Amino acid sequence: MARTAFQVLSALCLFSLSIGFPGNETVGQLFENVGWLPSALAQVTEDLVPRDVTFQPKAGDTFNMQLSVLPTVAQANDQSYHVWDYDLFSAPESLIKAFQDKGHPVICYFSAGSWENWRADADQFPKSALGKGLDGWPGEKWLDVRNPNVRSIMAARIKMAADKGCDAVDPDNVDGYSNPTGFNLTKADLVSYLKFLAKEAHSHGMACGLKNGGDILKQVVDVMQFSVNEQCVQYNECNLYQPFIAQNKPVFNIEYTEKSPAPPAFVTKSCTNEGAKGFSTLVKHLSLDAWTTKCPK
Ligand SMILES: *[C@@H]1O[C@H](CO)[C@@H](O)[C@H](O)[C@H]1NC(C)=O
Ligand SMILES: *[C@@H]1O[C@H](CO)[C@@H](O)[C@H](O)[C@H]1NC(C)=O
Repeated sequence: MARTAFQVLSALCLFSLSIGFPGNETVGQLFENVGWLPSALAQVTEDLVPRDVTFQPKAGDTFNMQLSVLPTVAQANDQSYHVWDYDLFSAPESLIKAFQDKGHPVICYFSAGSWENWRADADQFPKSALGKGLDGWPGEKWLDVRNPNVRSIMAARIKMAADKGCDAVDPDNVDGYSNPTGFNLTKADLVSYLKFLAKEAHSHGMACGLKNGGDILKQVVDVMQFSVNEQCVQYNECNLYQPFIAQNKPVFNIEYTEKSPAPPAFVTKSCTNEGAKGFSTLVKHLSLDAWTTKCPK
């Protein structure tokens, strides 16, 4: 009996893989229309196939990201970048709309795994969920992502993203399993958290990305619509992110240099990495200001 259920499940998974998780309502409807599907399995497929996600970027889509400085409305005229990623809290709805009016999908960034003392909702976090400081990021502490209050606050942030009209969310700092958070978080804790974040985003019709997290990628790639990566070339781990490309989902990769202009050798190395084939790579400053160097075509 268990085995049969498992076989049905495997067949479903294979079927889902073969249609490539387009994140498309059509697929959701397809599953809904399979009348014989037992409800338990329907629940599983619901977890796997994001319903009503209106934005599924494609592998190779051009991309730009700014965090410390919001882009200007004029930057929306630059069609050499398609998808944009900027700060959820500071981006006004009007900016998001101005970009969308010029054809750019907008991904809204927030930190899901760290507490930032300057955010409007900073005092809502339970003290017991605040861990060690993030090395090099003053005012930030690792969060206990198992904490239900932390999850409610993040659900509210995701709703704020939906209310502002974001096409997707980019929840950062989801690799606490490999950092000294103060909570001994496991990979399973982060996988559970990422599935929660993706489900919340999907429930509002938004896409969700996996930020870094190569070690847990296989457990979540199916529920994520894209990857945002930092420095996989520098750390020689781009291969880890190829499963996104295999599903025709983009890997938005950023390699950091503090030198502007970027040294040509650095750009060449960042843009020709064998493991990063098919990625959408940018060279930027760590502060993610307005300065960008694109990979040559
Ligand atoms: C959804 O699927 C339909 C039918 O295959 C296709 O025409 C449409 O472009 C897809 N939409 C997205 C967002 O991928
Ligand atoms: C984390 O693990 C270390 C080593 O096993 C242990 O000493 C420490 O007490 C643990 N901390 C917490 C908060 O569980």
